[in-house]
Amino acid sequence: MSFRIMGTGSSVPAYVMTNDELSTMVDTNDEWIRTRSGIQERRVCTTESLSDLATDASNKALKDAGVSPEELDLIICATFRGEYCSPAQACIVQKNIGAHCPSFDVNAACSGFIYALDVAAGFFARKKVKKVLVVAADNVTNSVDWEDRSTCVLFGDGCGAAVLGEGNHLLSVHLTTKGDLDSLVIPHGENTFPRYERGSQRPVIHMNGQEVYKFAVGAMSEGLEKAIQDAGKQQEDIDFVIPHQANIRIIKAAQHKLHIPADRYVCNIDRFGNTSAASVPIALDEINRQGRLKDGDLIAMSAFGAGLTSASCVLRWGK
Ligand code: ACO
Repeated sequence: MSFRIMGTGSSVPAYVMTNDELSTMVDTNDEWIRTRSGIQERRVCTTESLSDLATDASNKALKDAGVSPEELDLIICATFRGEYCSPAQACIVQKNIGAHCPSFDVNAACSGFIYALDVAAGFFARKKVKKVLVVAADNVTNSVDWEDRSTCVLFGDGCGAAVLGEGNHLLSVHLTTKGDLDSLVIPHGENTFPRYERGSQRPVIHMNGQEVYKFAVGAMSEGLEKAIQDAGKQQEDIDFVIPHQANIRIIKAAQHKLHIPADRYVCNIDRFGNTSAASVPIALDEINRQGRLKDGDLIAMSAFGAGLTSASCVLRWGK
């Protein structure tokens, strides 16, 4: 027993930050950002908190699923940095939506949503749960160095959620981790002990873009290939590929190594940039709400992120 997806939801901040606006803050321009990343604009939290967005996405997913908060047996939130170090972001969502179930966070950076789905699958397999909310929530722009043009142009904020019920629709999951502190780190804030002697790094994204790029192309293409094979399917059988929206060039390079037609890849990076763990479920929610998904469709999802982590899975659609 794994699960089926009963409903999806997403929520992004109202404020739209264009490439032109970024060009007034750092030495960059619309043409560089579009051609190097595919991003045209992103949403940035100004008045919204991460909890507001996570709650909104969760309520929408519950409504789409026709499930009430009281029915939930578990809430898992995928985030690299909840609104508070403690309590976990999932606990805040639980309070806000009026649920009463156990709730905790999973941190696998941008791969977090698929890691959280696999954690949920374990609870279903042990018959501990009947309804689970998985919400992916990252306020990445709060961790961006707004003076570093090589990173600040890439990220945006948002949340995505899915309500899971009993079923057998998760066909395969392939997770990897390659422990690495050189390619991408986001440090905590300063140590508060007055006599702490080791110093601290600024709590912003430090990234070697080219290293992440190389890892990402391999992780995405090999991860999808393995997940599709483990699901007992051919690449041509896949109806939709939902890749992590980090860079359109990464998606195209991975696409080039696979045998899945280009029009089956779901891309919204132009409007949202890299929203970390939320990027896959936001795209899933978009195609669900556009009515593009039919019962029985095969969806392959793939993400990568700090860790370095990667995660790919294949699931069958059908509420
Ligand atoms: N505007 C203008 N010029 C820029 C900018 C900018 N915003 N940023 C960098 N440049 C310049 C550089 O200084 C460099 O100039 P130089 O040649 O004079 O030295 C030139 O552009 C090329 O820089 P590169 O770093 O080589 O550019 P590249 O083509 O590699 O693209 C990018 C950079 C977009 C960061 C790419 O490497 C990438 O997408 N990497 C993956 C990032 C990623 O996916 N991160 C995921 C994070 S997931 C998570 O867990 C948070």
